[in-house]
Amino acid sequence: MVEEKIIIALDTTEKSKIDEIIKTFRDKNLIFKVGLQLFNNMGPEIIKRIKDSGNRVFLDLKLFDIPNTMIEAAKEMALNGVDLFTVHLLNGRNSLKGLREGLESFCNEKDLKIPEIVGVTVLTSFSSEDFHITFGGFSISKMVEELIVMANQAGIKTLVSSPKEIKLIKGIFPYVKLITPGIRPRDYIKKDDQKRVLTPKEAILLGADYLVIGRPIIKSDNMLKAYENIVKEIKE
Ligand code: C5P
Repeated sequence: MVEEKIIIALDTTEKSKIDEIIKTFRDKNLIFKVGLQLFNNMGPEIIKRIKDSGNRVFLDLKLFDIPNTMIEAAKEMALNGVDLFTVHLLNGRNSLKGLREGLESFCNEKDLKIPEIVGVTVLTSFSSEDFHITFGGFSISKMVEELIVMANQAGIKTLVSSPKEIKLIKGIFPYVKLITPGIRPRDYIKKDDQKRVLTPKEAILLGADYLVIGRPIIKSDNMLKAYENIVKEIKE
């Protein structure tokens, strides 16, 4: 369902705003993205509030650590009811495979829903020049390719990708699920700081499975309408 493909980025720590968002989208089975800022502000309470409101949680803390530390953190997320969470694919194949297997056996043993592990390729904040300084001869697109092959070997089936990478990734792995930020509705004039944006429909047609949308919804005077307009735009 198109309605469920939208992930709302909860990029605020303002309590009254969070209350309003949660009330507005009660029982919509949407996914809310909780990032470092909000999680450090509210802790696991925010996860509980979202789950209690009949929605799902995408915890975007981008884990990058030794396997044992990541597995233990992921177990806590599963116990808290997190539905999806991010890890850097740069953790490497064995580490990611260990994380996936460790988490699966823990959840099976405790009869918990297994959270979906979402792999992050290369942060879009890297310029080509910075990337070259940090990683030597690799180009960004070559690195993305290497990382997604490795993700596949590690059994990671969901990835975050910039709109620019959707085609490349789906061309290699058509069945991988892609979560894509950098989305701006057709009639949303302000582009904020997003440089390479796609409309929701363009992103879905290119192959995105989930769209992360923040400001166009949460900064709107009528959040429900903004969300419904996006759904309508995709369905047209
Ligand atoms: O407000 P906006 O729709 O731009 O929010 C997009 C969300 O997606 C933010 O939480 C932002 O941190 C995240 N994101 C992004 N670009 C990336 C990765 C994540 O905008 N490459």
